[in-house]
Amino acid sequence: MSVMTSNEIRQKYLQFFKEKGHAVIPSASLVPENDPSVLFTTAGMHPLVPYLLGEKHPAGARLCDVQKCIRTGDIDEVGDYCHHTFFEMLGNWSLGEYFKKEAIEFSFEFLTSPKWLGLDKNRLAVSVFEGDSDAPFDDEAFETWKSLGIPEKRIAKLPKKNNWWGPAGETGPCGPDTEMFYWVGEPDKVPESFNDDNSLWLEIWNDVFMQYNKTALGKFEQLSQKNVDTGMGLERTLAVVNGLDDNYRTELFWPIIEKIEKLSGQTYRGDTLVKAMRIIADHLKAATFILGDEKGIAPSNTGQGYVLRRLIRRAVRYGKQLGMKSFTKDIAEVVIEMFGDVYPELSKNKNFVFDNLSQEEEKFEKTLENGLKEFEKGTSPFVLFTTYGFPLEMTKELAKEKGVEIDEKKFFEDMEKHQELSRTSSAGMFKGGLSDAGEENKKLHTATHLLRRALEEILQTEITQKGSNITAERLRFDFNFGRKMTDEEKKKVEDLVNEKISLKLPVHKIIMNKEEAEKTGAAHIFGDKYGDEVSIYYIGDSLETAHSKEFCGGPHVDNIGTLGHFRITKEEAVSAGVRRIKAVLE
Ligand code: SER
Repeated sequence: MSVMTSNEIRQKYLQFFKEKGHAVIPSASLVPENDPSVLFTTAGMHPLVPYLLGEKHPAGARLCDVQKCIRTGDIDEVGDYCHHTFFEMLGNWSLGEYFKKEAIEFSFEFLTSPKWLGLDKNRLAVSVFEGDSDAPFDDEAFETWKSLGIPEKRIAKLPKKNNWWGPAGETGPCGPDTEMFYWVGEPDKVPESFNDDNSLWLEIWNDVFMQYNKTALGKFEQLSQKNVDTGMGLERTLAVVNGLDDNYRTELFWPIIEKIEKLSGQTYRGDTLVKAMRIIADHLKAATFILGDEKGIAPSNTGQGYVLRRLIRRAVRYGKQLGMKSFTKDIAEVVIEMFGDVYPELSKNKNFVFDNLSQEEEKFEKTLENGLKEFEKGTSPFVLFTTYGFPLEMTKELAKEKGVEIDEKKFFEDMEKHQELSRTSSAGMFKGGLSDAGEENKKLHTATHLLRRALEEILQTEITQKGSNITAERLRFDFNFGRKMTDEEKKKVEDLVNEKISLKLPVHKIIMNKEEAEKTGAAHIFGDKYGDEVSIYYIGDSLETAHSKEFCGGPHVDNIGTLGHFRITKEEAVSAGVRRIKAVLE
């Protein structure tokens, strides 16, 4: 099989769907905009939720992209040959246009045609939804696969657990899916029938048919707009196309592994070493992408910053096992070299990436030292973990070395209590996420635009959004500014926002092509990552005289007169050069 590069696959995918009438849209940030229900973008459909629910997308009803994603649900499986925390997802969408038959035919053609991936159709198997009391057996998907020549024995009918996707939160668009698997065992030993338990059948693509809306009462209602949402992991696809049985041996990882070999003086061989090297490569690649995103996320003890911290620390811990020291920056350098062309934000933010990695690595070294002292004093594993950030695995290793017993059962009991507490407190935060476009969220979102504009006027500098998050109670806005704001400045910002609210200005949306849109002087939030057509929300009677204008997907209130009284509750640092404001409407 001829060798295909990752870039060729990205290009081919986008080209194929372009030929099928799809608009290519850019990857959104790894940090979701205004969606409090998740920390990271976990799938290509994520940034598209408003459009799946019926909002008109500026680029049209057929879309495709390559989206950067982070999933931490499978973090314990990282270390095998095909699970990753960071991955790239190829995806195509139909927003109320084509449905099952076309979607499946597109997938089949792209996978098997020699013009595209040219995979062997005799090594392909699929699964479809078998039906239950919520929704019937997906016979349309089944018949379509049959008509394409997939033998019935290779079309598994499976329950919701396997063949249903979504909603992304508690409620929203969801539906049956059909998954495609490729036989990665011996090419001449393809079993006659598909078996879900055999991991040599590797899932490579998922076509979701979003024809239902799950309501708060748990009912599945037919959606008026039937959508297609597909997702194909680039890492797995690249491995499969090149006949490799290890994603880390593809060019999306191999240079990182080689660097680890060099720094550690060890070879990628043997179960323990291979696992450690994969974890280091995966976690530091993910950390580099999070730090290199436009949002300026730095390691911390909450939210995205906490996930980032865990990834770095876990990598450092495995690095120690291989005898490496002060190595995270060297790995990040390789990652940026590999991906800087496709994701220019990595090169742009490389100093931020390097500085934060080095600092976190150093901090963790100290934590380990302190934890060690506490351990000697006999501090419990739970306190060592929660107060000193000392991982249980480390405590166990030490206990073994010193020949002392630790009470693991008690550790897990304490942990469970601790987690329950934090789950309850965060559950409140997820209520009324923007995904169900609650009125309060809309108000806070519109207030965020007014805040950005007021900051610009009072601080006399261009203010760019570095992050935004809205819960049922408050807005949170991160922006570029180098120092603490004075009390007087904060007061002036509040006054200006409230003054505008009292003017009861209308909010309008307009769609135009990107170049024209840029000429209007509207604020850009995501750096330069927009499609050819963008929507601008402006506050005021006309675009020319508008008080505020921003590139934005919405939704917003129709008139700012409904917002109520705006108050800043907190102003603090997020990282060097980035400040955070929390504010409420009362
Ligand atoms: N949302 C589906 C997935 O993540 C398809 O894109 O698998």
